[in-house]
Amino acid sequence: MAKRVFSGVQPSGSLTIGNYFGALRNFVRLQDEAECFFCVVNLHALTVPQDPQELYQRTLDVARLFVACGIDPNKATIFVQSHVPAHSEMSWLLECTTYVGELRRMTQYKDKAAKREVVTSGLFTYPVLMAADILLYQTDEVPVGEDQKQHLELARDIAIRVNNRFDEQIFKVPEPYIPPKAAGGRIMNLQNPLEKMSKSAENPKGIITLLDPPDVIRQKIRSAVTDSGREIYYDEENKPAISNLMVIYSLCSGKSLDEIRDEYAGVGYGQFKKDLAELVVETLRPIQARFEELSRPGVIEEVLAQGKKKAEPIAQETLKRFQRKLGLLPLCDS
Ligand code: AMP
Ligand code: TRP
Repeated sequence: MAKRVFSGVQPSGSLTIGNYFGALRNFVRLQDEAECFFCVVNLHALTVPQDPQELYQRTLDVARLFVACGIDPNKATIFVQSHVPAHSEMSWLLECTTYVGELRRMTQYKDKAAKREVVTSGLFTYPVLMAADILLYQTDEVPVGEDQKQHLELARDIAIRVNNRFDEQIFKVPEPYIPPKAAGGRIMNLQNPLEKMSKSAENPKGIITLLDPPDVIRQKIRSAVTDSGREIYYDEENKPAISNLMVIYSLCSGKSLDEIRDEYAGVGYGQFKKDLAELVVETLRPIQARFEELSRPGVIEEVLAQGKKKAEPIAQETLKRFQRKLGLLPLCDS
């Protein structure tokens, strides 16, 4: 049997090239070798305040971008998290097997909570909802960027704990699929290369979104911060800004970091950035064109309706089985 893959993307902002290189590009690769489920996790987005109209629109846009980036709805299942209520139901059951201490150790929670005046309990329990997403589908592999590694380990711990408690496999224990940093696992902010490029960044100058027009991309790359010196070589520690730009260059061109270093020996940052901007523009051009085509009313809605139909029975089966194991009274439907 083909292995099963699950991943999710939040509709909490415009998708960036970080999302693309860290996650979406790998989704496209995996669809030919695995049974894939790609979910727009709109319930996750609710962990911080969202404008309802924007959330609605972004949910459709993320699904459109999945397809525009090359995910084929005939090969992979694309759906919206809230369309399959089993995710919320499973999340509660798993919350009752997760320890507060485990959630307190989550570094993303600590970072996000430190930046907010009020913190919802949803932000705290968010990794449990993510575990529910993954475990409901008996997932073998989860393609994500590096920032999700700790959440994935929690999902594994929860699965192992439940399986041990019942002395049988209720959940498959999922494996992470995380590209190394130099291969897109962690694209950094163009204005602050020590910070991850995040779609919810405050300063849009530091992020390139998949729908940025060519001139905006050129401007953002031109004003990207650089390191001291003028040589171009990969050194994450001493040259974090140039290293990040080199990784983006490498991902857009298919050239290795060494090839890029040799090609730009003796050439300054200015020319390098100019070439990089054109590469990014060309990489995004076909995605943007397909996105436009998918914006016709009804097209993506149909994909999502089909996706829900395929996802729900699988999720229901796992949920029902776990409910029975826990002793929840089934409905007597005579
Ligand atoms: P999110 O934007 O948090 O919904 O993330 C969606 C997917 O993109 C997850 O697999 C993340 O790990 C991945 N991702 C987000 N930001 C980056 C980044 N800057 N570099 C690489 N991967 C990323
Ligand atoms: N937490 C992930 C993020 O912010 C999104 C996500 C939710 C996810 N559920 C998932 C990723 C399940 C992989 C599998 O990027």
